[in-house]
Amino acid sequence: MMTAETIAIQAWENFGIPELDADHGRIEDLMRSLNGAAHARNLKEVKQLLADLLNQTRQHFTNEELAMRKSRYPDIWAHSNQHQTLSLDLAQLNQKLGTTMDWVALNRAIQFLPQWFSQHVLEADSKFAKWALKDRSGNR
Ligand SMILES: [Fe+2]
Ligand SMILES: [Fe+2]
Repeated sequence: MMTAETIAIQAWENFGIPELDADHGRIEDLMRSLNGAAHARNLKEVKQLLADLLNQTRQHFTNEELAMRKSRYPDIWAHSNQHQTLSLDLAQLNQKLGTTMDWVALNRAIQFLPQWFSQHVLEADSKFAKWALKDRSGNR
């Protein structure tokens, strides 16, 4: 079985949009801490970090979707759907951990989350960032 230690969290490039870059950095830090806590089998810390990750993620999705509306981003619907799906998964996991400790589900999440975020940031967010940067420089 893959252990938490073997999960590589891909470093994200900064887009040059300070508010998005700061949010993404915070989420990346939380995922690294979560990996560490899970590896140390520190249940209390894992629960706390998952709750933090859920809150931080929700806050970030709200910020990002607001930025998309402001710049009239045409692909906002598909992008927001991706956010919604992950929020539901995280909330379910959080709820599950509130009652029982399911290390199988937890390990799955710890592998899945960094993959999801990396892919989402590198593809969907990167596409939006390009649009937003053009908007800011008045080149559209
Ligand atoms: Fe996004
Ligand atoms: Fe994002």
